[in-house]
Parts: sequence; structure tokens; C-alpha cells
Amino acid sequence: MSLATLEQSILAEVDAATDEAALDAVRVSALGKKGSISERMKGLGAMSPEERKDAGAALNVLKDKVADALAARKATLQEAALEARLAAEKIDVTLPVRPQVSGTVHPVSQVWEEVVQIFGDLGFSVAEGPHIEDDFHNFDALNIPPEHPARQEHDTFFFNEKADGSRMLLRTHTSPVQIRTMLASTPPIRIIAPGRTFRCDSDMTHTPMFNQVEGLVIDEKATLANLKWVLTEFCKAFFEVDDVKMRFRASHFPFTEPSMEVDIQYSREGGQLKIGTGDKWLEILGSGMVHPNVIRSGGMDPDKVQGWAFGVGLDRIAMLKYGIPDLRAFFEADLRWLRHYGFKALQVPTLAGGLS
Ligand code: PHE
Repeated sequence: MSLATLEQSILAEVDAATDEAALDAVRVSALGKKGSISERMKGLGAMSPEERKDAGAALNVLKDKVADALAARKATLQEAALEARLAAEKIDVTLPVRPQVSGTVHPVSQVWEEVVQIFGDLGFSVAEGPHIEDDFHNFDALNIPPEHPARQEHDTFFFNEKADGSRMLLRTHTSPVQIRTMLASTPPIRIIAPGRTFRCDSDMTHTPMFNQVEGLVIDEKATLANLKWVLTEFCKAFFEVDDVKMRFRASHFPFTEPSMEVDIQYSREGGQLKIGTGDKWLEILGSGMVHPNVIRSGGMDPDKVQGWAFGVGLDRIAMLKYGIPDLRAFFEADLRWLRHYGFKALQVPTLAGGLS
């Protein structure tokens, strides 16, 4: 076969290759160790010096031509493959959402966002902590030593013991975030910490996983009066009413002194819950002045700074606000329930635009 014929046939094969694998096969059959051009190269050795000079030069020209053709074809194939992929994966982001597949925002997510909006407006920022905690952050640092009866009340989920005898646990409240925040920052501190909490408990008003919002203020002169005002403003904004009847009851928590539990007045008419009227009280939060021991655990001096804290049941205030009778339904993922109680996905709550 003449060199010109060989060239023609290789270039034709290059053109005919429809994908990169086929193109590579052509490359191997021409330029590979046993390829047609390589075989001819080997023949150069048997030639006279004169013949070899011309034949060698011609073969090198052919080799370059084939290499160029291969590279060009490869680029074309890659470009075509990309075009095809772009065409296949194209989505029209301007299309309207199909109603049958659009989801709703869960009442807990909605209320979470509402709470963040309200406290954001009051100058609080959002802090976070892990769901899996250690004894120190969940108990010890919060003035709950190992033998304290409050440990039993918390119905804690523990993990298996580690080699050193310690065991991790699922946080029983959001209060460990108080400690984490104090250890990581300096006063003035003004945070809320919404998040999941876990207790081994289950009935109409308790689920093993539930949500709380912790609040913490630490500065030189934060007072109980500030706490009452903030909680009252919060309740008015959250329940979207001019007046809420609240009851601040003396209580006890190891991590606050003095401590108050807060109840909110409501009525139940024909299965509907109403806030601000009626004769029923529902406990929605615990609060108080941060205990000096807790401030010390947070790495601060209780003679220099003081503060207050609260913990609200997020699911509870969601039930109250949106008239949802059974807490367990929150976590059952029943589509009919979600469609009924869920919120439109793009209606983000804001104080200016309306919370709900
Ligand atoms: N951590 C408490 C609970 O889960 C609530 C609380 C938080 C009380 C902060 C006082 C201060 O019951």
C-alpha cells in the first residue's frame, strides 16, 4: 500500500470515529506499538541511508498529520458531547412550580423562622450547638452535678459508655448552648438558640424529639425586669395580638436563680385554641436569672456580669398559635396533615411583611 493510500485510509477512519473510544482505537491501530505507521518505521532499518532519509521524512510528515487529525477530531467529539449534555440537562428555571409536586413549609420551620425574626429585631443573634452533647455542657456546667435529682427528671437518652467510663448523650434541652456561647464569646451576649432536644417521653404533648428556643443575655446589668419585658414583647409579636395574658410563676431550675415559669392564657372553643382569652393556662417556657455557678462555668466572673435566660417549647407555641391539638402529628409526616397545616414555601415570615 502506498503511503498516500495509507494516509487516506487512516484519515477516513479518524473522520468516521463517532466517540472517543472509537477514536482511540484508530490511534492505536496507526500510531500504537504495532500500528500501521509504526510498522513502517521499523522497516526503515533495512533501507540504504539514501532511501531511509526520504522515506523517514515522509513517514514523519504522515505521523504528524495523523496526530493533528486525531487531536482535531477529539476536540470536535468532546465539544459535541458537551453540547448534547447541556441540551439534555437543560432546565427552565422560569417555569411555574407544578402544584401537585410543590411541598409546604412545616409549622415547626415556620414558627422557628418567626421566632428568629422577632428576636432578630430585638437585637439577638442565632447561636447553635450539637445535638450530641457531653455531661459537662448538658448538666455539670449548668449547675446540675452528678447526683442532682434534675438529672432523673430529664429522661436522658445516653450513648454507650466510652473506654474512660464517660458517655455522650442527646441534649435534653438547648441550655448547653448557653455554656458554649459564653465560653466562645465575651459580654454583652444576646443570643437565641433554636434547635432539637431529646427526652425519653411520649404522649399527646410530649415526643422523644422536640424543639426548644434558648435565650441568653449576659452583660453588666441585665435584670429580671428586662427579661419580663422581652418575653412579653415576644409573645405579643409572636401571637400577633395587642395583649396577651401571661403568668410568671416562681419555679426552680438549677441553672437560674430566681427562676420563673411562664404560662399563657388561652381558651378552647369548639376545638379551636384562642390566645389572650379564656380560663386555661399553658406553660410555654422556663426562665430566670443565670445562676452564678453557670456564669463561672461559662468562664466569666459573676461579680462583674449577670444575665438571664429562658427556654421556650417551640412546638408548644406552634400548637398554640396555629391551633394544632396533637404534638405527635408534627412528626408523623402525614401528607394530608402537612397540606392542611403547612405554609406556602415562598411566604417567608418577616416582621414588616407579616409573620403568618
Ligand atoms: N432548660 C430548661 C428546660 O428545658 C428551660 C430553661 C432554660 C429554664 C433557661 C430556665 C432558663 O426545661
